[in-house]
Amino acid sequence: MSLPTFANEPTLELRRATERAKLAVALGELVLPVRAPVWIGLDRREGEEIVSTDPGDPERVVALAAAATPGEAAAAVEAAAAAFGSWAATPAANRAAALLRAAAWMRERRHALAALAMRECAKPWAEADADVCEAIDFLEFYARGAIELDAGSQLLQVPGERNELRYAPRGVCAVIAPWNFPLAIPMGMAAAALATGNTVVLKPAEQAPGCGLRVVEALRAGGVPSGAIALLPGEGEAGAALARHPGVATIAFTGSGPVGLELLRTAADVPPGARQLKRVVAEMGGKNCVIVDADADLDEAVPAIVESAFGYAGQKCSAASRVLVHEAAYDTLVERLAGAVAGLSVGPADDFAADVPAVIEEAAAQRVRRYASRAAAEGRLIGGDAELPRAGWYCAPAIATDLDAGSPVLRDEIFGPLLAIEHVRDVDDALDRIDALGYALTSGLFARNPRTVEAVARRNPVGNLYVNRRITGAMVGRQPFGGNRLSGTGTKAGGPDYLLQFVEPRVVTENTMRHGLVVDL
Ligand SMILES: NC(=O)c1ccc[n+]([C@@H]2O[C@H](COP(=O)([O-])OP(=O)(O)OC[C@H]3O[C@@H](n4cnc5c(N)ncnc54)[C@H](O)[C@@H]3O)[C@@H](O)[C@H]2O)c1
Repeated sequence: MSLPTFANEPTLELRRATERAKLAVALGELVLPVRAPVWIGLDRREGEEIVSTDPGDPERVVALAAAATPGEAAAAVEAAAAAFGSWAATPAANRAAALLRAAAWMRERRHALAALAMRECAKPWAEADADVCEAIDFLEFYARGAIELDAGSQLLQVPGERNELRYAPRGVCAVIAPWNFPLAIPMGMAAAALATGNTVVLKPAEQAPGCGLRVVEALRAGGVPSGAIALLPGEGEAGAALARHPGVATIAFTGSGPVGLELLRTAADVPPGARQLKRVVAEMGGKNCVIVDADADLDEAVPAIVESAFGYAGQKCSAASRVLVHEAAYDTLVERLAGAVAGLSVGPADDFAADVPAVIEEAAAQRVRRYASRAAAEGRLIGGDAELPRAGWYCAPAIATDLDAGSPVLRDEIFGPLLAIEHVRDVDDALDRIDALGYALTSGLFARNPRTVEAVARRNPVGNLYVNRRITGAMVGRQPFGGNRLSGTGTKAGGPDYLLQFVEPRVVTENTMRHGLVVDL
């Protein structure tokens, strides 16, 4: 099967009134609440144990979901194990074709899917649309990658011997997803596993079961057999029960550091009688720093930092959390960022004029406010006084300065609209601070000197370094994404090596020297 070269799905041109009108229609037509069942094979059990609400208007129930029991987690793994043989034996081209049809299904419903992500996770329109596009990109990208991988790798051949390296699927993959890219991330992990012939049990985030349901619907509509993809909504315990099950071969996780570490421990526990080592693909949190050198163009740096720190209320894993600015530029940068933050408006995700939406849930809002109060007590809090809508989990965007070097505000992943700024002696001082963090997900650099750019690229341990631009918005195929050190197991979603996490290599060596003749009688 020969496919056109991969290209990113174009995002909607939201500056056009006609495009905005289509989204408004889709929002009006959204039928809520969505009911997300435990969906194993053809069995659906609906329930209302999980109530997913609109973070910008918590009175609005967006989805009602069943919470999977440990028994259902086990049943889902067993069903996926039973379906594994036939899906693994399906030619790679046919599996890819199913993924491409799933992409087409999403493309046809892109406005409705964006509307659901907007309601369920308070994703502003442009972000919700980008989430749909990224999910489509993962399907298209991994479909192509799996066909390529299926051809195997070239090995050295010598006379009398034939060597072959092929990649086989590993088995059942538990996909455990976060809420902040409620369509793209679960779809990305599930698509990679399915493209390479694994079967999947998807545990969506408890904050986004409605979007999780759409992911499974898209895959099944595309032709992935019902046995090969199950939906297992639930809280953390459902994810833990799923990951622990001895029938799971691979755990594909994206989420917070502590949960990722727990899953690595779970996988390391190999019970007697186990027939496989569990592999963990873990994409975890970060504490993402932007370095601003003395020669940086602040006209470029200020809007890029504001977008990186406060876009989607600072809830992207790649979001800027600390700015390390050369002392010569510190006062000017703080003043300009303070001015920019004062101009941000906080409001509902469906309001095109709002810059900062609500954070995902009440506990998140409390956490952000706790860190902001701590920053105010320890140092100086700039902003933090924007007018907030009355209902909803809104937090005012703020900047923290003059913090102690050991402050938790500088160390912890806060995951909200709070940005810390520190002055540094020089770029090396900034790199020492980044090196001390442990997290190594994304980072940014604003500098004009190519030698500085090269030196920072060499020393900065992060998985994704962005130079003279915002540090969010990685594109499939263009910026393979994922962290190093405590931020993840070093895999790169949307990159050429990602699928290797979901397969096991097998080498066959055949002696081709014939001794005698095979006669077929
Ligand atoms: N590195 C990346 O690519 C990336 C991308 C997106 C989000 N993230 C990170 O995700 C976090 C935000 O997402 P979140 O709040 O949904 O994270 P989370 O870790 O709280 O939850 C992620 C998923 O794990 C499940 N879970 C919770 N406890 C579990 C347990 N004990 N065992 C198994 N599963 C369990 C949750 O139900 C959810 O489905 C942030 O830390 C962010 O940086 C990282």
